[in-house]
Amino acid sequence: MKGVFLCAGKGTRMRPISYSIPKHLIPLANNPILQYNVEKVIDAGINEVGMVVSPDMESLYRETLGTSKWGASITYIHQENPRGLAHAVACARDFVGDDPFLVYLGDNLLQSGLTEMVRKFKETESVASILLAPVDDPERFGVAEIEDGKVVDLVEKPDHPPSDLAIVGAYLFNRDIFPAIERIEPSDRGELEITDAIAYLINEGRNVTPSELEGWWLDVGRPSDVLRANRVLLEGIDGSVGGEIRDSKLSDRSKIVVSENSRIESSELRGPIHVAETSHIVNSTLGPNVSIGKGVELQDAEVENAIIMDKARIEKAALTGSLIGANAEIRLPGTQVKTIVGSQARIVEW
Ligand code: G1P
Repeated sequence: MKGVFLCAGKGTRMRPISYSIPKHLIPLANNPILQYNVEKVIDAGINEVGMVVSPDMESLYRETLGTSKWGASITYIHQENPRGLAHAVACARDFVGDDPFLVYLGDNLLQSGLTEMVRKFKETESVASILLAPVDDPERFGVAEIEDGKVVDLVEKPDHPPSDLAIVGAYLFNRDIFPAIERIEPSDRGELEITDAIAYLINEGRNVTPSELEGWWLDVGRPSDVLRANRVLLEGIDGSVGGEIRDSKLSDRSKIVVSENSRIESSELRGPIHVAETSHIVNSTLGPNVSIGKGVELQDAEVENAIIMDKARIEKAALTGSLIGANAEIRLPGTQVKTIVGSQARIVEW
């Protein structure tokens, strides 16, 4: 079985960060979002992966992933002029051939694995399997109606949801999904919805298996989702200090990682915090819920609930709830700011 990751969305809600780094490669606890997902797929026994990307973003993906990463071989599949998730799946037709395959929305993070779902699907005669989770706001998702353990209807973002069971972004299909995609029409939002293609199969009397998700699920669409996901993943880290710590105070040490060749001086750290290699933090207060990338310089800074990407430089600034792109420079003495700063940007007081 092969895996297909859908990563061609433009990430408009994540601008300006998504101009220089694809949304799916944004680091959470210093690992790209996609790494967590590829590892889940590998655990489920799938090690051939296709990444459906927009052609202009392929080089950015290649720089990070190459053709083999995290134990998976990687093939790039182009989706030009994105016309919805069903269109993205159709783009992977040649890659998957005649075999059943897994589709994973690259920006969904799951706590649990996919092994059980894959095992169940292989044992049934289903044409598709979907993962469902009860949510408080089903109108924001695809929603399933279940009767006697079977999916009897699916609707995309309904005004009046038939249940609270949202479709989570991991699907299993056999090749019957492709003719179904050819039959559907664009939805009200102008997209070819994968939900409609699966609903088409159900209406044809085909069997679609539901699986209920265990544990948390995060749909990482907006900057606030990124920070929330970073917090959730930081909660799970095991503290370790490979770098150097001088004249500093650490609290919640079991959730603080200071990687090799990083140096902390005259600072206060409150976990959870993850500091990658070669960063230098002086006279600063950090945490909780902070990820610091590689080669970051912090001086006289206060940073909480934030992701600071590689080689950013922050001096005399207080940041909360912020996403700071790689190589950005911030010098803003005075008030605390909550901000999103793209890579290479310079925000300094004149
Ligand atoms: C997509 C699917 C929807 C699913 C959701 C999960 O929505 O169309 O059925 O519930 O992903 O994240 P979108 O993110 O395109 O709004």
